[in-house]
Amino acid sequence: MKKILFVASEALPFASSGGLGDVIGSLPAAIAETSAGDCDVRVVLPLYGTMEEKYRAQLTFVQSITVNLAWRKQYCGIFTCERNGVTFYFVDNEYYFKRDSLYGQYDDGERYAFFCKAVLELLPVVDFMPDVLHAHDWQSALTVIYLKYKYGLVPGYSSVKSVFTIHNIAYQGVYGFDILGDVFELIPGESSVVDYSGSINLMKGAIVCADAVTTVSPTYAREILSPKFSGGLHHVLELHKGKLRGILNGIDTAYYDPEHDPELFANYSAGDPAGKAVNKAELQRMLSLPESPDTPVIAIVSRLADHKGLDLVALAADDILEGSVQLIVLGKGEYYYENFFYHLAQRYPNKMSALLVYNKDLSKKVYAGADMFLMPSKTEPCGLSQMIASRYGAVPIVRETGGLYDSIRDCGWPDGGNGFTFAPYSAWEMLGAVRRAEAMYNERPDQWRALRHTAMTYDFTWNRSAKQYIELYGELN
Ligand code: GLC
Repeated sequence: MKKILFVASEALPFASSGGLGDVIGSLPAAIAETSAGDCDVRVVLPLYGTMEEKYRAQLTFVQSITVNLAWRKQYCGIFTCERNGVTFYFVDNEYYFKRDSLYGQYDDGERYAFFCKAVLELLPVVDFMPDVLHAHDWQSALTVIYLKYKYGLVPGYSSVKSVFTIHNIAYQGVYGFDILGDVFELIPGESSVVDYSGSINLMKGAIVCADAVTTVSPTYAREILSPKFSGGLHHVLELHKGKLRGILNGIDTAYYDPEHDPELFANYSAGDPAGKAVNKAELQRMLSLPESPDTPVIAIVSRLADHKGLDLVALAADDILEGSVQLIVLGKGEYYYENFFYHLAQRYPNKMSALLVYNKDLSKKVYAGADMFLMPSKTEPCGLSQMIASRYGAVPIVRETGGLYDSIRDCGWPDGGNGFTFAPYSAWEMLGAVRRAEAMYNERPDQWRALRHTAMTYDFTWNRSAKQYIELYGELN
């Protein structure tokens, strides 16, 4: 049996701030299941102070060890629990992880350096030396680097292969060289591996050191080889492109299931979609929008960050709201966009509602109540919300980039599609796609119902991707 260790900074339901949490919360179980007992997949995460009490109560204490990081000697508690057949380990240190948010702390570099060092130190303690260490995003990048530079010659560790997955190349873990030894515990002779343009770049280091590098869609894997998408890393990726591949994410179709979802006002399915109208009416009532069954509701559920294409929405907002539509935005993020949507809702109280929060339960109500889902991202490594929206019968309107391109096809193609797409990054192209969706909704209801059915039944399960990961692990050993 092959042993796989996932290393990541978040996983649902324990801690999540976005798509990474979804993926780490569901992919390991999918791999274990698809491999039919051939892969023992385990996951290691930080034990955050923000974890809900009901999950904390499920943890068992394993042991505590001391983890050295440069001159520091830190307490590290190891906890564990099992979920959906997957063993999770948690690295406990309240000084580092009992904070009010996952990221954005002044000492994130040190927090995740400690985490990575702890991960490698706890393997003998929990008696799980993996065949493949699979690290995700910059917060886990140092495990791949340490594996090569610190543990490569340590008995037991030398045969461990590594995979590094880029969920978003915009976040690379960039620090000044002054903390190379003091925080990252690297010696000057090892500096070239993390050196990028005169700074420490942890993602770059992991790309260089990993045996394989993946990202979360085939199109994004191609895009990040060009300067427009690479966040500066195209030279490094070009050098290592032989070991780079894109594997499209899936979603947890049991968790995102309108037929059984307890968060909804009413349950429904592709075969029996009647309950969707109940969700729409209740959502409208909850948000004090007119309860109008025939007005198309357009939803945006997104981190309010620049690369999500919200500048297009800001440019076209008045034109969108000129039509007979309702617009619901759920998400938080950059002050500019929070402020923009807050004021837009003030200006259009009968047509627009802004929910400036990150709340998974509420987002499910929005997906279920919406007719259309707008996602005009400038860049999108994979994107999961277009898949979730589809499943809840909110027809996606997306820009053709990254994983959006790989998952949504325009319904105008002769052989059909599962949404509406546009290519140029332009507010007017986006508006055109919104208008096409509105026209079909208003003028051709039969066609609309058929499209919604296609969207709801489209295969966004993990099956295909899990097979590709298993294949990749097989190639490494
Ligand atoms: C990041 C990306 C998103 C992707 C997710 C999971 O959040 O921005 O596109 O779906 O990671 O891989």
